[in-house]
Amino acid sequence: MVLGIRVLAAAGVTTIALAAAAQDAQRGKALFDQCVACHSFDPARNEAGPHLKGLFGRKAAGVGDFIYSPPLRRADFVWTPELLDKFLADPQQPPFRGNRMPFAGIPDAQARADLIAYLKQASE
Ligand code: HEC
Repeated sequence: MVLGIRVLAAAGVTTIALAAAAQDAQRGKALFDQCVACHSFDPARNEAGPHLKGLFGRKAAGVGDFIYSPPLRRADFVWTPELLDKFLADPQQPPFRGNRMPFAGIPDAQARADLIAYLKQASE
């Protein structure tokens, strides 16, 4: 009986967590309007910016047929949610300085978190 209640409680917590995450990604999808003119998730289609398919775990400047700026080509890291958060907060801070993505950044940390939640789903 006690065990049954614990299992139910654990299941309830999971449901709430999933609902919250889904909501964030939903807000993030709207925020992606700021990126969509230059980025798609179609690996066959670069726009002004490289496609974002498979972004997390991908090397910086990792899209073979896109011509990146020298700072991004020299960058030696793999995109993680943490690094993307840093990049989107201020695209011109190290280690990204000098890249030519024409974007001022997103100062609001919650908005960046929501956008990254969406990107995790959409870039898979
Ligand atoms: C006006 C066009 C434009 C907009 C808007 C834009 N980007 Fe970019 N983005 C670029 C360009 C161009 C590059 C390549 C920069 C370089 O080579 O220095 C780039 C690079 C990137 C990269 C690095 C990709 C890689 O392969 O290393 C990421 C990640 C990225 N953008 C995400 C975003 C997100 C998320 C948004 C929206 C918040 C956004 N960009 C808005 C043009 C844009």
